[in-house]
Amino acid sequence: MFPIALLLVAMVALLVPRRAHARRQANYDEAKVPPYTLPDPLAAADGTPVADADAWFHVRRPELLELFAVHVYGRTPQKPFDLRYDVFDEADDALDGKVRRRQVRVTCSTPAGEIGFDLLLYLPHADRPVPTFLALNFWGNHTVQPDRAIRITDSWMREGEGVADHRATEAGRGRMAHRWPVVRIAEAGYGLATLYYGDIDPDFHDGFQNGVHPLFYEPGQNKPQPDEWGAIGAWAWGLSRALDYLEHDPDVDHTRVAVLGHSRLGKTALWAAAQDERFALAISNNSGCGGAALSRRQFGETVAIINTSFPHWFAGNFKQYNDREDALPVDQHMLLAAIAPRPVYVASAAQDLWADPKGEFLSCLHAEPVYRLLGKTGLGVREMPPENTPVGVDIGYHIRTGRHDLTEYDWIQYIAFADRHLKE
Ligand code: GCU
Repeated sequence: MFPIALLLVAMVALLVPRRAHARRQANYDEAKVPPYTLPDPLAAADGTPVADADAWFHVRRPELLELFAVHVYGRTPQKPFDLRYDVFDEADDALDGKVRRRQVRVTCSTPAGEIGFDLLLYLPHADRPVPTFLALNFWGNHTVQPDRAIRITDSWMREGEGVADHRATEAGRGRMAHRWPVVRIAEAGYGLATLYYGDIDPDFHDGFQNGVHPLFYEPGQNKPQPDEWGAIGAWAWGLSRALDYLEHDPDVDHTRVAVLGHSRLGKTALWAAAQDERFALAISNNSGCGGAALSRRQFGETVAIINTSFPHWFAGNFKQYNDREDALPVDQHMLLAAIAPRPVYVASAAQDLWADPKGEFLSCLHAEPVYRLLGKTGLGVREMPPENTPVGVDIGYHIRTGRHDLTEYDWIQYIAFADRHLKE
């Protein structure tokens, strides 16, 4: 009997996926959060206090971007490339005539080859350029609305509903529409521009042979250096290329583009906005570890867990901080600070402990001194608010009831926040 029981236990242990295992090991007890000291966003690397906007923009912000690049997300290559835009679809009467639709193929070419993505735009009927939300999506543009005209990507996709042999199928059309209230967004006067993240870099670890990375290798190079970009860096690059296009779209006000992302794409949106000052506003929805949550709290997903489950997301260097969060020269409040004085919104979900809601709130709180230095209010509260009670001024925050997802409730807050900051 006994050896059979043991055998069963061993079999179950083998069958439980690594991530489920990691989830069980994660700490969800506030009393077990280790004591920690956060690095000071307003002290330069040499210890000099950052006393004014000039020192922030010319010394400290560049330092922080460099630290995040080298130690966390990896550097984004600075080599030249060409972009081409082909508008292949226009409709004035999409979604029962409530919005306009446009689809654009954006192609990036370098001497090493080409990569392209379809950008799907839904726009309100308006007589002048509109502020626009830009977001990567997880399952392809065709999942965003049940709209037959949306072209289906042929890029690699994770297995899931409406996906067969790692390719999107017709069955997925409109499947994620609950995350994209396009008509509500348009009625509020905003456009929505979205692209499939896997068009930029497929989300599995293939040693960086597919996606955008190889386009920027040096001669003889076949994988990123330890301080070069992983997948999150690549996806963030894709957001900036989408913005390159939006700068040319006559119906979009490119000075009022809000970049938004959920979960791993929330991490990506923050990194994109930190690097690219053309983004006027940034929104992190349930981004968690490596996004808005403080790494040093080690609550829910940790640096070691994320680097083990997703070895391709961050720079190789980030693995040096597995179980050594204290050694990181940055923490995630500094990523929010790097976006200052531009408005940033962080949203948590009460059941999403994996993403550490409290750690996400504390990042907002500890980014505030930088906003204040720049003459802004920042968060404007000291205590984490109750559920479904948005707070904040230039840094917005809410924790809503429910699970890890991007919901209509979240969008209502983002639209209200954008109304305060992006509308004249
Ligand atoms: C996993 C991962 C998170 C990530 C999430 C997502 O849960 O551990 O870091 O945010 O996937 O992107 O959905």
